[in-house]
Amino acid sequence: MPHIPLIGRLTGREYTAIFFGSIFVALETILTTIITFLPTSVIQWFYNHSRTLFHAIVGPPAPPSPQKALAERIRRAPDFERLCEIFGYIHEEHVVLTKDGYLLGLHRLPFRRGEDTGRRGYSTGKPVVYLHHGLLMNSEVWICQTDPARSLAFMLVELGFDVWLGNNRGNKYSRKSIHHNPNSTKFWNYSIDDFAWHDIPDSIEYILDVTKEPSLSYVGFSQGTAQAFAALSIHPQLNDKVNVFIALAPAMSPPGLHASIVDGLIKASPTLLFLIFGRRAILSSAPAWQSLLYPPVFSAVISHSLRFLFGWKSKNISPLQKLAAYAHLYSFSSVKAVVHWFQIMRNAKFQMYDDDVQKVIRISGAAASARHRPSGVTSYAPARFPTRNIVTPIVLVYGDSDSLVDIDVMLRELPGHTTVRRLHGYEHVDIIWGEEVDKDVNPYVVEALRKYTVRPERVRSESKLNGVSATIFNGVSDSPDSISETASIYATEVRDERCLD
Ligand SMILES: *[C@@H]1O[C@H](CO)[C@@H](O)[C@H](O)[C@H]1NC(C)=O
Ligand SMILES: *[C@@H]1O[C@H](CO)[C@@H](O)[C@H](O)[C@H]1NC(C)=O
Ligand SMILES: *[C@@H]1O[C@H](CO)[C@@H](O)[C@H](O)[C@H]1NC(C)=O
Repeated sequence: MPHIPLIGRLTGREYTAIFFGSIFVALETILTTIITFLPTSVIQWFYNHSRTLFHAIVGPPAPPSPQKALAERIRRAPDFERLCEIFGYIHEEHVVLTKDGYLLGLHRLPFRRGEDTGRRGYSTGKPVVYLHHGLLMNSEVWICQTDPARSLAFMLVELGFDVWLGNNRGNKYSRKSIHHNPNSTKFWNYSIDDFAWHDIPDSIEYILDVTKEPSLSYVGFSQGTAQAFAALSIHPQLNDKVNVFIALAPAMSPPGLHASIVDGLIKASPTLLFLIFGRRAILSSAPAWQSLLYPPVFSAVISHSLRFLFGWKSKNISPLQKLAAYAHLYSFSSVKAVVHWFQIMRNAKFQMYDDDVQKVIRISGAAASARHRPSGVTSYAPARFPTRNIVTPIVLVYGDSDSLVDIDVMLRELPGHTTVRRLHGYEHVDIIWGEEVDKDVNPYVVEALRKYTVRPERVRSESKLNGVSATIFNGVSDSPDSISETASIYATEVRDERCLD
């Protein structure tokens, strides 16, 4: 067993974690396999009965409304293209070949509603914004808001930006490499280091090449900010290409998980995750489960998981928004990237991936011998991302209820020119999906963009935005989809959510 040289030296607690982790994974695999081979009628039967039971418990469905119908359409939209169709936008797809052979899907929203000039894949002469998603997500998270006025991406398009949305290697839109098959462990052998060395700079270079702009503005969410912190810190020339970096719910070295049992176990030895989840994608059966669960139940499962793992109550996200967006929450990522996060949390340092699995032993050994060694010198320290070197202006936007952000620790590691915006009562995911982001978050992002973007006179004024969401609701209510039936099914969702909480 070449990957697990520590097997004989694990503690009892670690064995327990492996034991329960393996049972969990085995059960999940067995159930997923069974479900795969079940005839559709049986699945339908379970689905129908869970629905009946559900409504017997929480009450009968309420009458439908356009908002509910829209949430349901968003939930069922299978991909980025369909999401754009719902809101009446035209998108472009681009593919970037990274220097190490991964093919990344980029999405672009170059035109306002009704503006299509017919010229695809060219420079539009507009200022460019690049949006990057978080851990285990893809570019859909930016456009699945139940009111387009709350979608940062659509708002920026309407203001006259050329909006690009990135995707990490391995996720729904970037599941290809010219060297490795996605079935192989080699394909999934990547961490945040690879996002920083390749994905971010290569995507940015490609975009500037197409748009003929000298620089773009970067807006990241969560891990998307970590990737930019890392990329800007290790590529000095990249700082010239990014005129401002806006970090929503920034992540650098989070203190840890709210669930102390999970936190303690995995921090004790992050590589345990390889034993539990293997060396490919993490939770790769999630999409299959998602399609089987009755949507309000699925929504509740996610809410409870977020509360258990991170202590987030998700009160700022409306039940309809959860129903619509949680279906677009998960996308593939490598187990290694998650292991990397636990290494960062364990060492409380924004450091590169540590390949040295012997570290577990080494640290306890070093700690023990340090007591006998007055100098306290250790022989080995994993390289840190030199984030203080970043020249690009940085704007942090964080929620003061976000358990993953320790703003003082973060500011110590960032250059002096960093500016900070604190959002009262915000957690993490609500920075993109919250009820009030159109008032609390998005205007601030636009303000920062205006301040730093190249030739800001190209940006339109916000007053032009009025009426955008009204038009879309009108469009939705008389859409040809047979949505009224399903809408009524979820109509009690508002109450459901409260009961399940
Ligand atoms: C489930 O419900 C749908 C309509 O709601 C119905 O068409 C279908 O026959 C039902 N299937 C079973 C197996 O009960
Ligand atoms: C990858 O695995 C899937 C299922 O596990 C299989 O259907 C597919 O043929 C495999 N592809 C290759 C190229 O091995
Ligand atoms: C992953 O890549 C590293 C080098 O980047 C290599 O040392 C390691 O053996 C690879 N692991 C797997 C499982 O392929």
